[in-house]
Amino acid sequence: MRRAVCPGSFDPVTNGHLDIVARASQLFDEVVVAIGVNKTKASSRLFSAEERMDMLKEAVSGFGNVTVAGFEGLLTTFCEQNDIHAIVKGLRAVSDFDYELQMAQMNSSLAEVETVFIPTSPEYSFLASSLVKEVAMFGGDVSALVPPFVLERLGARLAERRAADS
Ligand code: PNS
Repeated sequence: MRRAVCPGSFDPVTNGHLDIVARASQLFDEVVVAIGVNKTKASSRLFSAEERMDMLKEAVSGFGNVTVAGFEGLLTTFCEQNDIHAIVKGLRAVSDFDYELQMAQMNSSLAEVETVFIPTSPEYSFLASSLVKEVAMFGGDVSALVPPFVLERLGARLAERRAADS
């Protein structure tokens, strides 16, 4: 059984993430989308771990071989605990490469895991959750960049934040 993990913060999940998950699901028998829930970063998130998990579960519900999990601590510990030997990462541009290479090498020094890079589809090469949040916050249209139910929750959360700030 070839099992892989697609790790990330997914705050929130975008169509770019789902493109990588879909392509990983063709390459591996089983794919676990793993949400990093380290508490040190919790205050900088727009969505809680549970909310991110709910959105991801809905987003991958159409794939027969994809599941969603949360992990705290090192990704390699999660891999060891779940008998996973492949980490799948999307590469958007050369600017992603330096950091991703460093993480891949660190991860393979910590556990028996290989990192597999999948080039992001060109239509998503500019896409990042942080930009989606910023554009949506200033009223821009992000409807082509996230699934419809994420768009709805994003609008609701930003409206809540605006109400709390006023
Ligand atoms: O979506 P992101 O924010 O780029 O995801 C980053 C993530 C969660 C994949 C990365 O920060 C991670 O693997 N965190 C777990 C902690 C860890 O293992 N750190 C060492 C990395 S070499």
